[in-house]
Amino acid sequence: MAELDVIRSRALSELAAADSQQALDAWRASYLGRQGAVTQVLRTLGSLPAEERPKIGAGANALRRELEEALDARERDVKAAAMAALESGSIDVSLPGRRGLTGRLHPITQTIRDMLAALGEMGFQVAEGPEVEWEYYNFDALRIPEHHPSRDTQDTFWVDHAADGRRVLLRTQTSPNQVRFMETHKPPIRVAVPGRVYRYEATDATHEWMFNQIELLAVDEGINMSHMKGTLTQMAQALFGQDRPVRFRCHYFPFVEPGAEVDIQCDLCKGEGCRSCGNEGWLEIAGAGMVHREILENVGYDADRYTGFAAGFGVERIAMLRHSIDDIRHFFTNDLRFLRQF
Ligand code: FA5
Repeated sequence: MAELDVIRSRALSELAAADSQQALDAWRASYLGRQGAVTQVLRTLGSLPAEERPKIGAGANALRRELEEALDARERDVKAAAMAALESGSIDVSLPGRRGLTGRLHPITQTIRDMLAALGEMGFQVAEGPEVEWEYYNFDALRIPEHHPSRDTQDTFWVDHAADGRRVLLRTQTSPNQVRFMETHKPPIRVAVPGRVYRYEATDATHEWMFNQIELLAVDEGINMSHMKGTLTQMAQALFGQDRPVRFRCHYFPFVEPGAEVDIQCDLCKGEGCRSCGNEGWLEIAGAGMVHREILENVGYDADRYTGFAAGFGVERIAMLRHSIDDIRHFFTNDLRFLRQF
């Protein structure tokens, strides 16, 4: 009986100190739960002398009821105190909640992933190449020797480093990866190479000095222009919708023959010509063409047996068209008001 008194006084003083639902639950477990102190006393009844059992048993049951009632009362007090704190204005329950900050993918990363997914469905694997590149791969191996006029369209950031007279630059296009990949792989080839490229040029609404391209290369026996047109049309329609008209226009790039530029129809004017497409009715999304025979020969392929096509997409321009963004400079200004929209 003395032990029951000890349990009672300890339990009641601890209960008075419990001031949260969590503390009350813990208190309940330690006195009334299956391993609780009162329950333990009831469990040991069997080992007591027979004449003591009724007295101790009744005492323990009475204590259990007393503690249960005390717990109910204390629970009511704790809840009432919590409500009073809410109502007293120390917590304004009408304030909007604070949204947790979640990260998100940059719109350019999202566009690159969508494009690679569309290419993946057509069997293209993904590879990468260096941003700091030899002049050889960026220009010479692509049939753009020094003083060739088409070097002027890709003004170059030169890196202050040379080895054995070989000059180093920041790549102006992802096309050097055509040569790099063919040097290390045998046909059949279907590869997509995403990456940043750099051009020393003044920025405006459609030109950045750093932007992303995705290069495509397919080489195999019997590859022809219709494979190129089919692949690029499917790619464009995966990005802009199945009904979007796509057209191919002749264009010169030294490393392809024949060469083309790929346009999608302007969605605003449906080809009529408007401000957003510069009155063209069409918007350019890629350069493309059949890989020049000399380039196949230079990497050791039998150019009578193998042919291929290549293409280079400008990722920012595609993201701009998909999201109706009017200025390319928004992408890398890191204004969160812009970035949070994606
Ligand atoms: C090239 O870079 C070629 N390497 C593409 C190619 C690949 C042709 C394979 C044939 C075969 P071009 O300089 O046109 O071509 O650039 C390709 C795309 O990059 C353009 O269509 C455009 O979308 C994008 N682009 C070019 N300059 C800029 C710039 N300053 N800012 C943003 N995007 C640009």
